[in-house]
Amino acid sequence: MSAMPAVRCTGLSRRFGDTLAVDNLDLEIVQGEIFGLLGPNGAGKTTTIRMITTLLPPPRGTIEVFGADVAARRMAVRRLIGYVPQQLSVEATLTGRENVWLFAKLYDVPRLTRVRRVNEVLAGVGLAEVADRLAKTYSGGMIRRLELAQALVSTPRLLVLDEPTVGLDPVARDDVWERIEQIRADSGMTVLVTTHLMQEADERCDRVALMHRGRIQALGTPAQLRGNLGDGATLDDVFRAYTGDELADTGSIRDVRSARRTARRLS
Ligand SMILES: Nc1ncnc2c1ncn2[C@@H]1O[C@H](COP(=O)(O)OP(=O)(O)O)[C@@H](O)[C@H]1O
Ligand SMILES: [Mg+2]
Repeated sequence: MSAMPAVRCTGLSRRFGDTLAVDNLDLEIVQGEIFGLLGPNGAGKTTTIRMITTLLPPPRGTIEVFGADVAARRMAVRRLIGYVPQQLSVEATLTGRENVWLFAKLYDVPRLTRVRRVNEVLAGVGLAEVADRLAKTYSGGMIRRLELAQALVSTPRLLVLDEPTVGLDPVARDDVWERIEQIRADSGMTVLVTTHLMQEADERCDRVALMHRGRIQALGTPAQLRGNLGDGATLDDVFRAYTGDELADTGSIRDVRSARRTARRLS
């Protein structure tokens, strides 16, 4: 890997009270890849992402995004990133178009090209036809695609998605993933995505990191990780091998509650 990585984290840590949410994490994301950060509720995925996107200052360790140090060049880094948070960010009482327009202004998309750019991203996520309907009339899958359009309107080099398919049915989930893959193919954008669904990561990610209790337990292509375990192994099996049989029951009430709230609002 000689080219500059899209993201480089070294010795990253973050504590909340007694919980070490992120524990001395090293991570490199290659330009142009779809990188999956996997793990159960409470693993530390969102905390990691919030530090990379500059929303949380890292108390220990360093982060570079396309070579720019997050602590020293926070605004420059923000301009490089499009972010779809785990909690919904769409304003229900605005239309789809107005929601994207808001982000276009927020991110200083130049006035002259703003209208065109908003139309472009709405078409890119398949919402051109319904752009003037209120967001509250959208299905869960449409809302996630609208959030994707918001994140993309500033033409970021790194797209960061936190559990983009939580609460969606399999058809809507595939649809969101196909948009992400199309965008990556068209623009060469780097994608960092978190999920707790091993199977979708297996199908969609170039490389994955298995995160548990703030640490990366394994990292590689899905095939490499499965291969380590032998014939017929799934990523779920790999995860269990690294974490014991804890996949189903880790995470605090708080984590589960927050995941459920998002799911409810999308369904
Ligand atoms: N703002 C916060 N205050 C207190 N604890 C938090 C906060 N954010 C995260 N945590 C805790 O840090 C750990 C990691 O959380 P998080 O990064 O949200 O995990 P994930 O996204 O993998 O579900 C969990 O134990 C969670 O309860
Ligand atoms: Mg999370």
